[in-house]
Amino acid sequence: MANINPNQEREQWGSKIGFILAAAGSAVGLGNLWKFPYMAGKNGGGAFVLVYFIILFLVGFTLMLAEIVLGRYTQLNAIGAYRKIRKRWAWVGGLGVLAGFLILSFYSVVGGWVINYLVKALSGALNITDAEVLGNMFGELISGTTVPIFYHGVFMLATLLIVLGGIGGGIEKSNKILMPGLFIMVIILAIRAMTLPGAVKGIKYLLIPDFSKLTIGVVLDALGQVFFSLSLGMGCMITYGSYLSKDTNIPQSATIIPLIDTGVALLAGLAVLPAVFAFGFEPSAGPGLIFITFPAVFAQMPLGTFFAVMFFVLVLFAALSSSISLLEVCVSYVVDEWKINRKTATIGLGLILFLIGIPCSLSLGPWADFHILPDKGFFDTFDFVSSNILLPLGGLLLCIFVGWIWGTDNAIEEATNGGTLEFKLAGIWSFLVKYVGPVAIAIVFMRSLI
Ligand code: PFF
Repeated sequence: MANINPNQEREQWGSKIGFILAAAGSAVGLGNLWKFPYMAGKNGGGAFVLVYFIILFLVGFTLMLAEIVLGRYTQLNAIGAYRKIRKRWAWVGGLGVLAGFLILSFYSVVGGWVINYLVKALSGALNITDAEVLGNMFGELISGTTVPIFYHGVFMLATLLIVLGGIGGGIEKSNKILMPGLFIMVIILAIRAMTLPGAVKGIKYLLIPDFSKLTIGVVLDALGQVFFSLSLGMGCMITYGSYLSKDTNIPQSATIIPLIDTGVALLAGLAVLPAVFAFGFEPSAGPGLIFITFPAVFAQMPLGTFFAVMFFVLVLFAALSSSISLLEVCVSYVVDEWKINRKTATIGLGLILFLIGIPCSLSLGPWADFHILPDKGFFDTFDFVSSNILLPLGGLLLCIFVGWIWGTDNAIEEATNGGTLEFKLAGIWSFLVKYVGPVAIAIVFMRSLI
């Protein structure tokens, strides 16, 4: 019954560049600017980056193409897309929508911290060089009750308002402003950081691998990070692909999007780590790295307040262009499958997600002793379950689905617009999607669970 696309007039991206910017906007986010530098910092720098690259080449590009193709072929949301091809697989899309839900609820809490820090930077309150004072400031914010929930609400509201505008008018239009702004800012910041005296140590730390740091934990972190950073494994690119017209060059887009994402992650690493080293801080500060260490770095720089404001605007832009894609995955599902109109769906989901975000925020403060998984409260559980379990599992199942159920021949037929486009790497892609992707993901997954 749901085999037929209920929206005969499904909205489409206005232009090819509009789609690429939106998809890159989804990919580039807190994952690049907040998670990547601290993950690299925590996991031995270059060793993590190297593993990240290997997984990116073997799995990242492959799955990006698979998701977009599946979305455009079916013109449906994550669940509908699986169901249209093989009814019994709809639950895999369901796992994706669930992952999107979990991610957005904690993502929005972090987005709220970013808005709060932007306000602080604007008022000059971040002009502090003592990392300990800054650490207390950050701790006070995230462990608070009303303040972080208020800012989480503001972030969710902003996300909701953009998604209300629809695909062309809301998501595409906002990304056309957010993404170029983001590129310019991250380049300026990276140049500023790399020209600081003593920055070389940070650059080396990021680029030269120390193999003694390589453990299976690092590999799983890198795998989860590739999925998280590229917005893969939860049907986000299926959803965005479903708004594509039939004449888009998908192989080309699927190459450009991961390149932009990785470029920004590296630039963010080059903006954060050299500065951290130049001022003698520890790279392994964890999630607080950009909130604690970085303001201290800015405070010691000439024009520090200006750069601090620019940095947090950049992070906010990146976070919003991703959060709208997370919300869109859920909205698209509800609109397609439950036949609820877009406005009601968006507002309703925004509200529910705001409510689910509240325990995430509280779990870092008043509810710190309440654990869902061993040692993990709501926030950490949602992050771990989505990034390290649901996304890789979604990716594994996607490989099996596209490689073996739908079949790579059908996928290539769609990717080449019915054989009219050249797709030189089709053979390699088939091999990666059928064998390398599932085996690689399964191995990392099993080893880390054991
Ligand atoms: N890719 C985003 C980031 O790096 O911050 C996060 C994200 C967005 C993950 C959308 C998954 C997704 F579907």
